[in-house]
Amino acid sequence: MSLRLGIYGAGQLGAYLCQAARTLGMTTSVVAPTDDSPANEHADHVIVAPLDDLAASKTLIDSVDLITFELEDIASPVLDLLAEAVGQGNVQVFPEVEHLRLLQNKCSQKRWFVEHSLPTAQFLDCPADTDIAALAEQFGLPFVQKTHRGGYDGRGVQVIRDADGGDELWPTATIIEEFIEPRRELAVLVARSPAGEEAVYPVVEMDFNQQGHILSHVLSPASLPVDISTQAQDIALQFIRHLDGTGLFAVEMFLRNDKELLINEVAPRVHNSGHLTIEAHQTSQYEQHLRAIAGLPLGGTEQKQPSAMVNILYADAIESACASGRGVIAVGNNTNVHWYGKKGSSLLRKMGHITSTADSVEEAQSNVDAALGALAS
Ligand SMILES: Nc1ncnc2c1ncn2[C@@H]1O[C@H](COP(=O)(O)OP(=O)(O)OP(=O)(O)O)[C@@H](O)[C@H]1O
Ligand SMILES: [Mg+2]
Repeated sequence: MSLRLGIYGAGQLGAYLCQAARTLGMTTSVVAPTDDSPANEHADHVIVAPLDDLAASKTLIDSVDLITFELEDIASPVLDLLAEAVGQGNVQVFPEVEHLRLLQNKCSQKRWFVEHSLPTAQFLDCPADTDIAALAEQFGLPFVQKTHRGGYDGRGVQVIRDADGGDELWPTATIIEEFIEPRRELAVLVARSPAGEEAVYPVVEMDFNQQGHILSHVLSPASLPVDISTQAQDIALQFIRHLDGTGLFAVEMFLRNDKELLINEVAPRVHNSGHLTIEAHQTSQYEQHLRAIAGLPLGGTEQKQPSAMVNILYADAIESACASGRGVIAVGNNTNVHWYGKKGSSLLRKMGHITSTADSVEEAQSNVDAALGALAS
């Protein structure tokens, strides 16, 4: 019988996991928050329910062999249920429940980096209702405030520049972090199987939309001195070894002053920075994650060609392209427009992405930019 895979979450990452699962002969069940979530049409079975619905989790546990996640913000009672089911031998869960608990909270994640001597920006835990002036004195301005949990696409991150009333601290549990500037942003995907087989991808560069801290472009490979890219890959490998992690993890880093690498955060899952592995690498991040968690031999990470990816972020100018775009559309020059099939939208929502492979990263970037520009016409 083929392996039955369960996935929490049914956005675009879940959709790509379902597609990769099919190529590996697995069947899929997703827990989807709505009946028109992007992954639904790619899954064999869909359980429409809020992700914290315990009855839906019980159904999933009873109907699959192996469970994974497209997002880390899974509610504690669900994680408790999953841990119990693993303990009783009813299902396998990867990444491990305890690793998800550790990494879904930015504070426990950062503490763990420090305990394991992994480089990261200085930070302080910041209880609710801390006085901004006292923090500014202790930490200096500007600094970054981040919610412990639930942040994504820059929601849950703010830069505080003014202690005299111009900026307001969020009153919830957060961390305060030094503002890293100047910086470049890099990411390394790293995977490990339960038997300890490892795979690491080339370092990519991430460019952010400053308006909302949302990832805009990914360039691969990042243009870096060899010693820096080797060091970045080493940090990602050290992370996964210290964790004894199973599955694929995305290690987001800052490069400060072109020389110092710091881990920003780690996502215990497939990641937006790895979409271009579908076209540009021997094994996509999606297939690699499934190979790792299913205990299959890992695939090669070699890059076939330089590549670039741009996110399609919703804006009024591309409304009609977003409303009609479906599936994958080849637009020439080894450039593909991927639509997620999301219905309705709001400003800057991720509606799809465009990947190009070319002889150089610059050429790939100009191809994706041209294809993005064409969506408005
Ligand atoms: N300490 C910092 N110094 C400077 N910029 C920062 C800092 N922390 C975060 N940022 C900016 O905010 C972006 C989002 O921060 P972070 O990755 O912590 O949040 P997120 O919302 O969880 O991320 P994601 O976009 O990966 O879902 C970073 O990629 C970076 O551009
Ligand atoms: Mg991030």
